Amino acid sequence: SAIFLKDYKVPPFLIDKTELTFDLEEATTIVTSRLHMRRNPAFGKSTAPLVLDGGEDVKLIGVAMDNYSLPPEEYRVSEDKLIITATADKFVLTCETLIEPQNNTRLEGLYRSSSMFCTQCEAEGFRHITYYLDRPDVMSVFTTTIIADESRYPVMLSNGNEVERGKTEEGKTVVVWHDPFPKPAYLFALVAGDLAVKNDVFTTQSQRDVKLQIFTETHNIDKVDYAMEALKRSMRWDEEAYGREYDLDIFMIVAVDDFNMGAMENKGLNIFNSSCLLASPETTTDDNYLRVEAIVAHEYFHNWSGNRVTCRDWFQLSLKEGFTVFRDQTFSADMHSETVKRVEDVAFLKTAQFAEDAGPMAHPVRPASFIEISNFYTLTVYEKGAEIVRMIHTLLGAEKFRAGSDLYFERHDGQAVTCDDFVAAMQDASGVDLSQFKRWYSQAGTPTVLVTDSFDESTGTYRLTMKQDTPATPGQPTKLAVHIPVRVGLLDPQGAELTSSVQGVDAQEHVLHLTSNEQDFEFTGLTARPVPSLLRGFSAPVKLRYDYSTTDLLLLMSSDTDGFNRWSASQQLAVGELNTLIKQSIDGETLSIDSQLALGFKTLLNDASLDPAMVALVLALPSQAYLSELANPIYPAAIKQARDFLKAQLANVLIEDFKRVYHEHNVTGEYQAVAEDIARRSLKNTALSYWVETGNELAQQAVLDQFQSANNMTDQFAALSIAVNTQHAKAADLLSAFYEQWKNEPLVVNKWLMLSASQESDAALTTVKSLMAHPAFDLKNPNKVRSVLGGFGQSMSGFHNADGSGYRFLADQIIVLNKKNPQIASRLCTPLTRWKKLQPELSVKMKAELERILAEDLSKDVYEVVSKSLA
Ligand code: ARG
Ligand code: ZN
Repeated sequence: SAIFLKDYKVPPFLIDKTELTFDLEEATTIVTSRLHMRRNPAFGKSTAPLVLDGGEDVKLIGVAMDNYSLPPEEYRVSEDKLIITATADKFVLTCETLIEPQNNTRLEGLYRSSSMFCTQCEAEGFRHITYYLDRPDVMSVFTTTIIADESRYPVMLSNGNEVERGKTEEGKTVVVWHDPFPKPAYLFALVAGDLAVKNDVFTTQSQRDVKLQIFTETHNIDKVDYAMEALKRSMRWDEEAYGREYDLDIFMIVAVDDFNMGAMENKGLNIFNSSCLLASPETTTDDNYLRVEAIVAHEYFHNWSGNRVTCRDWFQLSLKEGFTVFRDQTFSADMHSETVKRVEDVAFLKTAQFAEDAGPMAHPVRPASFIEISNFYTLTVYEKGAEIVRMIHTLLGAEKFRAGSDLYFERHDGQAVTCDDFVAAMQDASGVDLSQFKRWYSQAGTPTVLVTDSFDESTGTYRLTMKQDTPATPGQPTKLAVHIPVRVGLLDPQGAELTSSVQGVDAQEHVLHLTSNEQDFEFTGLTARPVPSLLRGFSAPVKLRYDYSTTDLLLLMSSDTDGFNRWSASQQLAVGELNTLIKQSIDGETLSIDSQLALGFKTLLNDASLDPAMVALVLALPSQAYLSELANPIYPAAIKQARDFLKAQLANVLIEDFKRVYHEHNVTGEYQAVAEDIARRSLKNTALSYWVETGNELAQQAVLDQFQSANNMTDQFAALSIAVNTQHAKAADLLSAFYEQWKNEPLVVNKWLMLSASQESDAALTTVKSLMAHPAFDLKNPNKVRSVLGGFGQSMSGFHNADGSGYRFLADQIIVLNKKNPQIASRLCTPLTRWKKLQPELSVKMKAELERILAEDLSKDVYEVVSKSLA
C-alpha cells in the first residue's frame, strides 16, 4: 500500500527526550527505552491513541506509562505497530523489547557484522530496534547506555559524547553517551566491538579542538590514513566554502564489512561500508581513492545538510541528498580537476539517471508517493537532485547562492523541513524568482531541448530557436515547461571564442533562460555564422539535440574553451559512428566505417598541453550502458559488436600514438593518489587498452609486465582488466594469480569477483555459478553480492544470452535474497526493469522472469519495483 505526500500531517505526539539502554548479549539484546513524550500542540486538540512503529522482529516484553505497567487490555501490538489507547498529555513511556541482532540479515536496525554490533537506521531501521515514532520530523535528545562484556566489546560507541563509564554487578561494562543535538531516530547509531582506532585532532576556525577517531577491525587500521586526511580536508572546506563549522567535541567513523549502502551520516558517529573508507596503494585503485574521499566528505557535510537541518518527511529526501551530493561534487572539483569531475558526474548521470527517468520506476526528485522508501535512494533523488541545486547555483551566481545557503541554515537550524523551504531561502536571499523553477522537483522525466539556428548576414544576427519537451512518465501524462538555464558560447570557424550581444549584454558566454515550450534567442554583433557551444558545463540535466556536422564537432573537440563541451563533442561524434555500426550489425551487414573520430583522437594524443585525465576521458568510447540508454530498442549483441569494432579500428589506425603515449605516461616511483599522477595513470592505461587491441606482441607483453611489476592496485588491476577484456592468451592465468596474491584482502577479492563475473564469454553463466560456490563468496555480504550479480548484469553475452538463461538466473537469486535482504534484492531488479526497451526476442524472456518473481511472497521492496515494472 502506497503512502502519499499529500497526506502529510504533523505528528500527534513529540518525544523531547529519548533514553535507551542496550544490554548486548550473544543471542539476544534487550532494549529498554524511556521516551519523554507529550501531545504536539501543532497537531491541535486530540485524544488520538499513541501509535508507535515497530518491526515484526521486535518482541515486546513490557510497556509502562509513568511507571505504571500497562496490562494487556490497555495496548495492542500488530505486525508493525504498538497502539496505546489512553494517554495523558505528557508522560514517560517505558518499553522493554527483545531483538536478535545475529539473525538480522536485512542489515537494518541493530545487526552483527563480523564480530561487532552495528546499526543502520535510515530510513526506517530504528523501528527494528524498538517501538518509536520513527519519522524524521520527530526530533529528540538521545542518551544511550550500552551494557556489554568488555572482553569481547572493548569499544562501545553511540552518538555525541561519552559521559559515564562503570560496571554492573555481574561485571559487565556500562558506557553512557549523550548527544545534545535533537535528532530524528534515523540518525541514531550504536557500535560495539573489538576495534582498533586511529586518533587525530582538527582545530576549527573558531579554535575549538575536535577529537577525530576512525575505528576498524584490527587488521585494517593501517588503511585509514587517507580517509583521515580526507576528513580534515572536508572539515576545512565546509568552513571555507559554506561557513559551516563542526559542532560536537568528537567525530567518529567506523568501518563495517556488511553494509547495504555506501555510508551513513549518524550524528557524530558515521558508519561506513569498509569499501568506501579503507585505502592503501597496494589494494586500492585511483578511482576507489577518489570515491573514499568523496564519501567521507559527503557524510561529513551531512552534519549540516541533513542533521542540523533535516527532512520533514521522506518525500523530501533530496533536500539533504541532492544538496549534499552537490556539496561533495564541488569539494572534489576543488580538490582535483573541476572539468574531469564534471565529465565523470555527467557521464554517470546520463547513463544511469537518464535510464531510470525513462523507465518504469521514473519518479520526481521529490516523489509524490512510495510503497517502500528504501527504493527511493535513487539516482534521481541523489544525482538529479544535485543537478537541481547546481542549476540554482547557476541562476543565482556564487555569491547569492552562498547567501541563500546561509539563510537556509540560519532559518532552519534544528528543524525538519521541505524542499520548498530550501528554495524559499534561496529565493528570499537572492531576489531571484524560482517559482517556475520549482517544477524540477515535481516533474519526472528528462526534458529534451531541440535547438535549431539561423544566421542573418545583413544584420549580423544569429538566432537560436529552442523547444523543450518532457516525456510522459508513469502517473504523469502531461508536463509543463521547466526553467532551463542554457549556458552558451559561440566559436568562429577557426575555433576562436566570439563576443556577442544578447539583450544588450556583451559577453563571450551567456546563460539563456528557456522557460517556454518554444523560445528564440538573438545574438547580435557577429560577422559570420558561428558554431554554437551549447549547454556548457552541462548547465541543465536535459537531452540536447542540435544537428552538428562532423566538422563542427571536430572543431568543438579541439577548440572549445569549455573543457566539458570538448568532451561532449567527442562523445557525440563517437555516438554517431557507433550508431551507424550498430545499425549495420542489426541489419546483418559487414561492419565498416571511415572513422572521423580518429582525426580528433590523433590531435589530442599529440597535444602535450592537455590534461592527460581529460584525454583519457575523451578516448574512452561511450559505454555499453550509455549506448543502451540511447537505443530503442536495445540490441545488446549489436552494441557490443559495434563498440568492439570501432575500438579495434581506432587502435589500428593510431597504434603508434597509443604505444608512445603508453610509454610517456608510465608513472614510476612511489604511489601517490594525487591528481597529476592519477591523470597520467588513467591515460597510460587507456592507451594500453587500445594498443593491446591491435594484437601487437609488444603490447601483449606490456600487459604481462605491468601486471607483474606494478607497485599499486591501479596499474595491476588495469593490466588484469585489459587482459580479461581483450581475451589475452594469459587472461585465465592472471586471474588465478591475482586471486592467490590477494585472497586475504576481501576488498581486492571483491574486485576479482566483479571482473570474473562480468567476463564476456559463452560460458559466462557457468563462471558465475562457480563464483557463487567459491569460498570467497558470501550471500550475506552485500558487497560480494553486488560484485558477482552486479558484474554479471554487465556482461552482454552472459546476462543477455539469447536463451534467456541469464535473466532466469538473476531472477532466481532475487527470489532467494528477497527473504534475506529485501533492500539488496530490490536493487538487483534494476536490469530487469528495462525489459520494455529490449529487442522483442529478449524482451518477452525478461518479462516472463519479472512475472515469475511477482508470483512469490514478496517484501515491499521487491514488490514495488517488480509490480511497477510490469504495470
Ligand atoms: N544517507 C546515506 C547517504 O546518503 C544513505 C543511507 C541510505 N540507506 C538506506 N538503507 N536506504 O549517505
Ligand atoms: Zn547522503
